[in-house]
Amino acid sequence: MKASDRLIFALDVPDIKSAGSFINQLAGSVGLFKVGLELFAAAGPSVLELIKKAGANFFLDLKLHDIPKTVERAMSVIAASGASLATVHAAGGPAMLEAAAKGAGKNTRVLAVTVLTSQGEEDARAAGAASVSELVVARAIMAQKAGCHGVICSGLEAAKVKVATGPGFLCVCPGIRTDTTPGQDDQVRVMTPENAISQGADYLVIGRPIKDAKDPLSAAREIARRMGG
Ligand code: C5P
Repeated sequence: MKASDRLIFALDVPDIKSAGSFINQLAGSVGLFKVGLELFAAAGPSVLELIKKAGANFFLDLKLHDIPKTVERAMSVIAASGASLATVHAAGGPAMLEAAAKGAGKNTRVLAVTVLTSQGEEDARAAGAASVSELVVARAIMAQKAGCHGVICSGLEAAKVKVATGPGFLCVCPGIRTDTTPGQDDQVRVMTPENAISQGADYLVIGRPIKDAKDPLSAAREIARRMGG
């Protein structure tokens, strides 16, 4: 797998027109497009069709968190849409995670969001854990037991997750910044592309560092280079 295949571009844009321009520019230079809440609420399945037409794959990041039956049914619709990856909140618990894995079937890999990368130690303590990394690892083990294929965590926890779950369990890491000076935006647990890969991340989710660049295609290529070629 080449480095750009491990690069997931977050299509965090408000409408299908802006999504289309990023899809045309970046298809072939990123591994997957991630469609999240904003764009899916605005454009719905039509944006998924646009990505498929461009010959690219997508990650539907709707972060499901509901009763198990509702999650199972929603996940089977997501799987039928052709999503390669989809998310649920690990905080929903084992029964919900099992239902998500069941609904997804064979072709969609389910990732459990452990602790949002915008959250820090205070949030982990509020959830009753001693630290963020303890909470991330506990949720990763729970997600693996429930049949999920991997987790969303920051690069700061990827190595610990890999030790706890083994190499086949995916670590998908957002919170990637080419410059990790604190306080630049809402992401708290940030890491550079090269460090996240060296910590064991399988995929990096990158939005603003590419989306807000003067030249998004060059920014994506430079990040892929920093990820290892
Ligand atoms: O712009 P930025 O690179 O911060 O985008 C990160 C993307 O990853 C956003 O789409 C956000 O929803 C998503 N994400 C995250 N933290 C998580 C899970 C998903 O930042 N734990």
